This record gives sequence, structure tokens and C-alpha cells, in this order.
Amino acid sequence: MSKARQLKLGSIILGVGGTMSSWRHPSVPVDASVNLEFYTQQAQTAERGKFDLVFIADGLFITEKSIPHFLNRFEPLTILSALAAVTTRIGLVGTLSSSYSEPFNAARQFASLDHISKGRGGWNLVTSPLEGSATNYSKASHPTHGERYEIAEEFLDVVRGLWDSWETDAFVRNKETGVFFDPAKLHRVNHEGKHFKVAGPLNIARTKQGQPVVFQAGSSEPGKQLAAKGADAVFTGQNSIEDARAFYEDVKRRTVEEGRAADDLSIMVGIVPIIGKTDEEAEQRYQEAARQTPIEEALDVLGRFFDHHDFHQYALDEPFPELGDLGQNSFRSGTDRIKARAREHGQTLRQVALEAVAPRSPFIGSAETVADTLQHWFETKAADGFIVHPITPEDLNIFVDDVVPILQERGVFRTEYEFDTLRGHLGLPVPENRYANQKMAEGAL
Ligand SMILES: Cc1cc2nc3c(=O)[nH]c(=O)nc-3n(C[C@H](O)[C@H](O)[C@H](O)COP(=O)(O)O)c2cc1C
Repeated sequence: MSKARQLKLGSIILGVGGTMSSWRHPSVPVDASVNLEFYTQQAQTAERGKFDLVFIADGLFITEKSIPHFLNRFEPLTILSALAAVTTRIGLVGTLSSSYSEPFNAARQFASLDHISKGRGGWNLVTSPLEGSATNYSKASHPTHGERYEIAEEFLDVVRGLWDSWETDAFVRNKETGVFFDPAKLHRVNHEGKHFKVAGPLNIARTKQGQPVVFQAGSSEPGKQLAAKGADAVFTGQNSIEDARAFYEDVKRRTVEEGRAADDLSIMVGIVPIIGKTDEEAEQRYQEAARQTPIEEALDVLGRFFDHHDFHQYALDEPFPELGDLGQNSFRSGTDRIKARAREHGQTLRQVALEAVAPRSPFIGSAETVADTLQHWFETKAADGFIVHPITPEDLNIFVDDVVPILQERGVFRTEYEFDTLRGHLGLPVPENRYANQKMAEGAL
């Protein structure tokens, strides 16, 4: 009998937090976003809770109006390499943009992380929503949304090709004979495409996971298609169970249409749980958090989704302004959702801005209530798992101490790690090396 489907959990480590004022909370070290001890503590707490992974988001452009965490934070692969040394089981997933890197760099960096962590590395492939990123990377302009996904698809193909440069047992390292590697097990990708020209081979061996795990974060049509075609997991942000189920169904269908099994792709929804001793106390905590950000700051946070558009120019209590195509070249799936919600619910600019800083999460309540909601989403195929954004560092402890045991008792979440790789945790097979596969097929003929 196959094992019952298990819930997956990740924790995003957000340094001084995800809002303008979260750094002022008494439990947050003011330098948390560049504080190794803080990151270590958060990763070890998530590992104590048997989480599948910790997750580091990233961005490539800031302005004076960016939230404090964005102004002064660690580069993802650097901090994850340090976390690899102070954790043993938990997966380590970091964000890197396919619009502003080279496939050879990305393949090499994530292969290194995978080796350092002994099979726990993962790459969150993003396309970078902010126009200003181009100004930091010597580019004349930011590629359009469509171009960014076209680049991403080719980028991922090349990275996967490079990760197959060496067959598993290519490094012989025989001191007696002096044979360091077997040339028959070394392969060049020799890629020549529209955006990249890469010969290979990669200068690092195949990893314990075969290939690091690839996440994709982006929920527009091309984003979903890229995930279905080539990713191992999706990081998404639906805020209602109906939207999440529709997204889940859509992406799994596309995955099967791409010739893969539906389970080859895990769908993980980002959530901001607010947990209290009772439902009432949790609601109170949410109201307090929602009141924390002044409206002027909320307008800036909202503006970032629309490529730092200046929302201060509009009347606050009038209907949300008509923005035409604004947002299409930035966080498209997010801005489409914001516009559609504003239209459907007749929201004012003030309401939309406040919702952008403190979205009303369905995961507000006592530990029991939050566990119920997580289980319900999981069992009714709105998600395969969740990436928890704790609103304060203490909230991760509360989640681990109070919510995880309930999920474990109900048999939907592991009580011990059964594997020591991220692929193992996520139930993903180790991919075969394409060249070894080909040789096997030829040998079988
Ligand atoms: C849940 C989620 C998480 C994301 N995380 C990041 C991130 O850490 N860094 C980044 O540059 N972009 C991030 N993005 C942006 C996407 O990579 C993409 O550029 C943007 O969302 C537009 O694509 P879409 O319309 O397909 O969603 C994220 C998007 C989503 C939906």
C-alpha cells in the first residue's frame, strides 16, 4: 500500500520582517536581515519542527521606499551555504533570477550548495519583476514579461543540461593508477539558443540529489507553463481556498499534459498565519498588525508591486484608480489579482493599500483552527504544502510548538525526518543522468 500523502512545510526567513514597521517589534533584532545568528536560530527552529525546507526570497533593486528588510539583507546562496553548516536535514532553497544571471553561474552555485549541504539544495527560479533591476546589471532595458519567461525557459534547460555534465561515478580518483576521472562519463551541453550559448561541461560533479530541486515562483500563464514543464515545485500566493484549488487543478493538469506525473510537481502556497491562544486573541493580533502600518507607507508597499508606481497622487477614499496595463510587466499575476479584487469588491485605494500590507489571511485563529484550515486546504487539493511567513520570529516557534504537533497527531505531517535530502522530503525521485540513460537504452537494444 502506498504511503498516505504528506503535507509539506517550508519557512521563509524574512530578517526584520515583511512590512515597513515589522523591524520595530520587540522580538526582532534590528539587524536581523544581516544577522547570521538570527538566521541560524530560525533555520534550527524550522528543523526542530521537521520542516521540509527554509526559503530565502530575493530582489535586485531597491529604492528609499522599499521595506527595511529589502534595504539591507543577505544574498541567498551565501546565507544558505552558512546555514548548511549549522543544520543537518532541512532543505535550503534560495532565489536566483534567470533574467539577471548566467546559466553557468546558476548551475555551479546551486550544485555547490547541494554538495555543501549533502543533498539539501534548491533553487527558486524567478524572472525579476522590477524594471530598475536592469540599471544594476548593465542592461539597456528590463526584458518584458513575455521575454523574461522565454529567457527563463531556455535558462532552465541549459542549467539542467550543465547539471548532467558528469555521470554519477565519473570521478574515479584512483591514486594507484592516477586516473582522476573517466572521460566517457564527461559530457558537454553544447547549447546554442536564442539567448544563451554555453559549451560546458560544468566544473563540479553531479550531486547527491542528481540535480538540486527547482522551485518556480510566478503564477501568470507563462509562469504556470514553465512550472509544469520544468520545475519540481511551485511557490505561489493564493489567499482564498477557491483560488488555490483552481490554481492547483490548472497547474497539475498542465504538468500531466507535459508528460509528467501530477506528483512530480509540488504546489506550495505562501501563508501568513496569525496564531493566538483563542480565535479571538488571534483576530485581535491581526487587527493590531493591520493598524501598524501608516497609510502613506502602505501606498509605497502597494506601489512596489506596480514597479514602484506612485499611488500618493490619487484620492484615498475614491474607487481604486484605473491603471490600464500598469503592472503587466512587473508582478503580473499579483497585480492582476489586486485589480480584479478591487473591481469585484468595489474597493477604495485605502482598502487596497491596507490589504496589500496586511492581507486577511485565512490562517488566523487558535493553533487548532489553523491546523484545521491547513489540513482542509491540503486534503481538498488547494495545496501540497505551505511556506510559512512568520510575522515575528516568535511566530515560527508558536507554529512549531503548537500547530505542528496537531498535524503530526492527525497523521498528515512527519514526526521524524525519513530522508536526508530535499528531494527525499518532497517525495521527488532522483533524476537519471540523460547520457547514462541514453547509454542504458542503447545497451538494451
Ligand atoms: C509567491 C511568489 C514569490 C515570488 N518571489 C520572488 C522573489 O523572491 N524574488 C523575485 O525577484 N521575484 C519573486 N517573484 C516574482 C516572479 O518571479 C515574477 O517576476 C513575477 O511574479 C511576475 O511573474 P508572474 O506574473 O508569472 O507571477 C515571486 C512571485 C510569486 C508569485
